[in-house]
Amino acid sequence: MNKGTFYITTPIYYPSSNLHIGHAYTTVAADALARFKKMTGYDTYFLTGSDEHGQKIERAAKAESKTPQEFVDEVVAGIKHLWGKLGVGYNDFIRTTEERHKNVVSAVFQRLYDQGDIYKANYEGWYCTPCEAFWAESRLEEGNCPDCGRPVELLREENYFFKMSKYAERLLQHIEKHPEFIQPTSRRNEMVSFIKSGLEDLCVSRTTFNWGIPVPFNSEHVIYVWVDALTNYISALGYGTEDNSLFKKYWPADVHLMGKDIVRFHSIIWPMLLMALDLELPKQVVGHGWILLESGKMSKSKGNVVDPLVLIDKYGVDAIRYYLLREMPFGADGSYSEDALIERINKDLANDMGNLVSRSIAMVEKYFNGLVQSPSAFEAPDQELIDLAEQTPAIVEGLMDKSDISAALAAIWRLVGRANKYVDETAPWALNKDPAKKERLSTVMYNLAESLRFITIMVSPFMPYLPDRVWGQLGIADQPGLHAWEALSWGRLPAGTVVKRGPALFPRIDTTGKR
Ligand code: MSP
Repeated sequence: MNKGTFYITTPIYYPSSNLHIGHAYTTVAADALARFKKMTGYDTYFLTGSDEHGQKIERAAKAESKTPQEFVDEVVAGIKHLWGKLGVGYNDFIRTTEERHKNVVSAVFQRLYDQGDIYKANYEGWYCTPCEAFWAESRLEEGNCPDCGRPVELLREENYFFKMSKYAERLLQHIEKHPEFIQPTSRRNEMVSFIKSGLEDLCVSRTTFNWGIPVPFNSEHVIYVWVDALTNYISALGYGTEDNSLFKKYWPADVHLMGKDIVRFHSIIWPMLLMALDLELPKQVVGHGWILLESGKMSKSKGNVVDPLVLIDKYGVDAIRYYLLREMPFGADGSYSEDALIERINKDLANDMGNLVSRSIAMVEKYFNGLVQSPSAFEAPDQELIDLAEQTPAIVEGLMDKSDISAALAAIWRLVGRANKYVDETAPWALNKDPAKKERLSTVMYNLAESLRFITIMVSPFMPYLPDRVWGQLGIADQPGLHAWEALSWGRLPAGTVVKRGPALFPRIDTTGKR
């Protein structure tokens, strides 16, 4: 089964400090989408990386008396370690300090200059150093940067500019013709009004610091960090190099996933750069909400940063992934609290999923010495369970196609809930008391075991470590054919399979004492 290619990216993160749970959310969400697409038959390519240039990094390095390169090398090692701990299976990790990236950015800049899309001019503008952005006076909010609210300073420089104004009309037409291009719709509307309010040409070089890729024809300037960073999505595929086979195969990207804060760069500057390069535009830019704390947005300066490594050690990687993916509603902001995390673990994972597995397996052991029996005639509650199990994969696929990960998990949990209800409805302990009901009991046990198989296949892109633990208990660890998405047809679990109870999948977290 090959349904074609699927190229998904995360933003490349600034290695200015260690990453927090907000960054982890974006990357885990992209990982779940990538795993899902791979499992459902797409030739998938998943890219992440680090955005290592710019004044912020230069300053952070200085503060620690390190060279920028030494500084980013250390932080990037930490980022890769975190992705490893979170089970993030990227195909490539691009660093903007790598030669393969720098060469492509230089060549792109040169080409745009040669064809007149980049030109030199004198400029006076309001500059926000933390955001590394120039602003027109009309965009300032109470004299401050409209993005971060911090003060701006007046800078007068000779700089290079990219002709954004030239592409504005074409971009608007593209957005109108492709309603799916910017998702969710609320973000799309924001972008349309932003473009309609008038786009000035973009200043794409800087002279106030050195830590960047030099403008190829004027070494006094470095290339604006967003032009450098956005190009990662094609430099990582070898665009413009001798070996551009990945680029040919995977471009245009299917999904650029990111937080809402940077949708503007991806849905305005990036498409315009691509138009100037005569390349296809990405199919979709998806902007998710922020993870907020009671104290507001997470930031180092507020001292309210939540370290994902600590949470993984405390609660386990699958539980953290589940919580993040389930709790963040598509397109809106979500909030983080350790209490909510514990509640999700105790309710959805320990109570609903964990219990379903342990009690089903325990009953097969108790009633049939662990041997899964052949089912016989189905009765009404059986049919309801089976119908829902058979409908759920398509529902999940539809939601994942819209990147609505939280709703996809909710759909799987409806099946978990249905299976738990099925246990109550069929009351196997009562059937067991009546020898005449042995056949009925066999059918009920089969249906439960088969439901576990369905649920486990479907959760695997979200919780990649869980399936192996369930397959062991379900006695089909050595039958990978039964773990695949294509194996989601009812009745594939062979009678005669021997189940074996294992340790609890998600032990309950005691909330009575101290954590
Ligand atoms: N380097 C740029 C991106 C360049 S992409 C060509 C950048 N990096 S960043 O380190 O600041 O990370 C930005 C991304 O991290 C956000 O777009 C978002 O995806 C994620 N998040 C950072 N904080 C977050 C939350 N509090 N909540 C959710 N996501 C958050 O911008």
